[in-house]
Amino acid sequence: MNGPHILAFPEAEVPPDLKAQVAALQEEAWPSSIAAPQGPIHDAALEPRSLLLIRDGTVLATLDILSKAITHRGRSYLARGLSTVVTGRAHRHRGHGRALVTAAHGAIAASGADLAIFTCDRPLRGFYESAGWQWLTGTVLLGGTPAEPLPSDVLGKVAMGDFFSARAKESAGDFTGALIDLYPGTIDKLW
Ligand SMILES: CC(C)(COP(=O)(O)OP(=O)(O)OC[C@H]1O[C@@H](n2cnc3c(N)ncnc32)[C@H](O)[C@@H]1OP(=O)(O)O)[C@@H](O)C(=O)NCCC(=O)NCCS
Repeated sequence: MNGPHILAFPEAEVPPDLKAQVAALQEEAWPSSIAAPQGPIHDAALEPRSLLLIRDGTVLATLDILSKAITHRGRSYLARGLSTVVTGRAHRHRGHGRALVTAAHGAIAASGADLAIFTCDRPLRGFYESAGWQWLTGTVLLGGTPAEPLPSDVLGKVAMGDFFSARAKESAGDFTGALIDLYPGTIDKLW
């Protein structure tokens, strides 16, 4: 298959040739923040799953989907979110990022998750909205751990998301202007 297509793998099972390309894209976007170029970069407890947009054997864009059971206002949900979204610098502004983030929306919707929530830098809000995601106005995700919380607003991030199961849709209003205990831990800190 040579045209643009999307492949999905558990992060630890991305084939080595593709993994090396993913690592190079991540290193280009976040130099020095990701230490081990060939290994998984996410906490295995968050069941990282990688999506790769590939053309002619070249990885144009990639992202990871992380998962965690959360409790919000007394109700439990299976939440997933986007992390390490990146398009290779040479391939930006051609719609690849939007195509991949749109595909991730569809994949999470079909995955059995109740909802998706994640944070992004404020200027990227419109990018995610154009790919089917909702801006959760005033919502703050608490990253890190309960002992060392990392609030997303302090980092200048905004919250994006969507609601998929009937029970999550019913409670969607609880997630606007809310403080959400995500606590992904010390490896991912925030997604
Ligand atoms: C964000 C990113 C993945 C977008 O990838 P892309 O393939 O260039 O995105 P698209 O071509 O699908 O962009 C669609 C639209 O989103 C908006 N957009 C894209 N990147 C943007 C950015 N960095 N800032 C603001 N708006 C942006 C633009 O409106 C763009 O349309 P345009 O090309 O006509 O200007 C890419 O810029 C990137 O890898 N950035 C570095 C890593 C990063 O910041 N990741 C996000 C972490 S929250």
